[in-house]
Amino acid sequence: MKKILVTGGLGYIGSHTVVALQQAGYEVLIIDDCSNADKDFLDRITSITSIRPQYFSIDLKDQLKTNQFFENNPVDGVIHFAAYKAVGESVEKPLMYYRNNLMGLINLLEAMNENKVDHVIFSSSCTVYGQADQMPIDEQTPLKKPESPYGKTKQMGEEILEDYASTYQKNVICLRYFNPVGAHPSSKIGELPKGIPNNLVPYVTQTAAGIRECLSVWGDDYPTRDGTAIRDYIDVNDLADAHVKAITRLMEQKNKTNLEFFNLGTGTGSTVLEVVNAFEKANNLSVNYKIQPRRAGDIVEAFADNSFAKKELNWQPTISLEESLRNSWNWEQNLGQEK
Ligand SMILES: NC(=O)c1ccc[n+]([C@@H]2O[C@H](COP(=O)([O-])OP(=O)(O)OC[C@H]3O[C@@H](n4cnc5c(N)ncnc54)[C@H](O)[C@@H]3O)[C@@H](O)[C@H]2O)c1
Repeated sequence: MKKILVTGGLGYIGSHTVVALQQAGYEVLIIDDCSNADKDFLDRITSITSIRPQYFSIDLKDQLKTNQFFENNPVDGVIHFAAYKAVGESVEKPLMYYRNNLMGLINLLEAMNENKVDHVIFSSSCTVYGQADQMPIDEQTPLKKPESPYGKTKQMGEEILEDYASTYQKNVICLRYFNPVGAHPSSKIGELPKGIPNNLVPYVTQTAAGIRECLSVWGDDYPTRDGTAIRDYIDVNDLADAHVKAITRLMEQKNKTNLEFFNLGTGTGSTVLEVVNAFEKANNLSVNYKIQPRRAGDIVEAFADNSFAKKELNWQPTISLEESLRNSWNWEQNLGQEK
């Protein structure tokens, strides 16, 4: 059984990927410092798969502990989710983001290199494209300077990995996610934002649950079909499946080059109001929202050309936006009942 280290495996996308990896027959080890996760996600994962992953409470900024992990735990590959991800916070605290997201990555890669672990998947983001000149965005679309320190850590992370792959002959896949949404159909795991949510869907579910009074829709004067911004919302379970396919590609040495990039989106853009309407329809309720002025740094639209991932990873998004939004709402309600 191949052993995969999942950093950030108690987080939103990480936990869904751990479940999918276990269900695909991988043995999973998790490193997470719980800076943005609850340790009870270990129990939640176990309750879905009946397999308890080995968990290590390590901060990847701690080089010594990261090295020791690899010395004591031989693994076949790594999926690296662990990072801070709040765009607004990164603008206020850029050094904290550079330290965590880049130091963590460098410590991880050094420890992997010293311990001869040759395969890594990196969580990148469509933020590396900025406001692209053409839609949909494929992997050849030129990268633009990101607006936020968070986005810069993703672009710099990719550059570090480019040098790492070529200098040390390692195999790297960068997965550029569009906008992850949804929750596990069991409602046992989902997104758990600490404080005010940064992303649209948790804000929608918290507003529907009465935790937030009103959803702010930032701008209705964009050049789009209803004036609100367009994003590509990809279900987190579909994302998890893409990670299983990507790590399997590396395990089976089916990668074409030692550094590959894949866009993970549905290929369809939805406006903010379309998401709100889809949520209302899917769950038969209404959400209180208010149009606000545009937010600085927001782009007009971004949606993926996912044909490369479809062809090379043999991957296909399978979950509709309505189904994702139903799962998100069920997860939110489940959380409310647990409190
Ligand atoms: N959710 C999104 O909208 C989105 C979009 C594009 C890319 N990404 C990237 O995907 C990855 C996972 O995102 P997510 O939404 O699951 O975020 P998340 O915050 O839920 O998960 C990240 C996990 O990493 C852990 N972590 C952070 N720093 C750490 C450190 N130094 N050492 C050990 N653990 C650490 C956190 O505790 C958390 O459990 C991140 O790299 C993120 O930047 C996310």
